[in-house]
Amino acid sequence: MNQLELFGIKTDLVRPGDDLAEAILRGMDRAGLALADGDVLVVAESAVATAEGGVVNLSQVTPGARACELAERYDKDPREMELIIRSSDRIIGGIPGVVLTIKDGFLYPNGGIDHSNAPPGHVVIFPKDPRRSAAEVRKRLEEASGKKIGVIVGDSRTHPLRLGCVGVALACDGVVPVEDVRGQKDLFGRPLMITRKAVADNLVSAAEVVMGEGDEGIPAVIIRGAPVRLADDGEDMRIPNIPPEECMYIGSLRSGPHPYQGGYDRLIEEAKEALKRSYAPYSGFRVGAAILARSGKVYSAANVENASSGAAICAERAALAKAVSQGEREFEALAVVAEAGEPVAPCGICRQSLIEFGGYIKVVMANVRGDAEIATVAELLPKGFTGRSLMTGPSDEI
Ligand code: THU
Repeated sequence: MNQLELFGIKTDLVRPGDDLAEAILRGMDRAGLALADGDVLVVAESAVATAEGGVVNLSQVTPGARACELAERYDKDPREMELIIRSSDRIIGGIPGVVLTIKDGFLYPNGGIDHSNAPPGHVVIFPKDPRRSAAEVRKRLEEASGKKIGVIVGDSRTHPLRLGCVGVALACDGVVPVEDVRGQKDLFGRPLMITRKAVADNLVSAAEVVMGEGDEGIPAVIIRGAPVRLADDGEDMRIPNIPPEECMYIGSLRSGPHPYQGGYDRLIEEAKEALKRSYAPYSGFRVGAAILARSGKVYSAANVENASSGAAICAERAALAKAVSQGEREFEALAVVAEAGEPVAPCGICRQSLIEFGGYIKVVMANVRGDAEIATVAELLPKGFTGRSLMTGPSDEI
């Protein structure tokens, strides 16, 4: 029989500077709770952040120009927006009142900055290092109990288009966060193809049934009997994520460019090599490009300028022309590298040339310093003009 038990741990109100592990142990003591081997303890992110002292008085924050601009656009307090910018790697968009941000590959509303459970005029900023916090709590509780447990720092999220929060794990220690069940059989004996079980997220959701969100004063929950695998020493307990462009939700929003997360390093290198052969005596702006055809072959080229400036050709189009004239018609990705302070984006004419061969082609934009972003051609050229537009024919109404 699979039997799961949940024990909410009521603690004193957690204040900045408190010892969270101590508060949890005291709460357990008062309720007569003891840990057992194999237990998983879920701790609320808000408690971790508060104990860490991440409570910020907004009156002490001076917003910068970008914060003021974004605050205006998304109808937010500029000081809060300043904190959001500081605590996230990227802001990918927003609606009035909320901006969606990415930090360390995870999605956070408002950079993880929270009003709830913060005193008026204050916000709680995101914990500095939730993995370390999880490890610290686990160490302390294992020492106190002599039992082997797992610890998860949990937070709440909504699923796209759904009302109501579910649990999400921010960090794990001692427990394996995602179980790969590919290869197991479904009810009809077919192998499961893409299923990974988000064990840690599911446990946080279970814990949140007990925890609540508000003034219950239950910042931690013991889960007993969960069919989870406690991690071996040295095992990687990082919560795996997928790049934004491969994510069904974020990828569908076509909000590129996204930060480049690898996969086309060789293509970037080929583009860099081509850059060395750039002919740019007029602008001095050297660019190299390399395009990867579906055949697996790579074609590279540099920009070639001309005394008659309009006769110049960009590196991207030169590489594309080279490939197409070798018979290639289908492409996977193009990398472009320039000697610039930021990753260089293909010009409008190059975007038009590329979309001829597919809006799905990925464009890796890089500079020689190693900064890189990735986007599809369609993302770079929304509502692009293609052969399909020609085929729809003249409108009857004209
Ligand atoms: N250039 C490229 O080769 N690719 C780009 O994406 C932007 C511009 C070249 C064309 C010209 O030789 C020089 O950069 C300055 O415009």
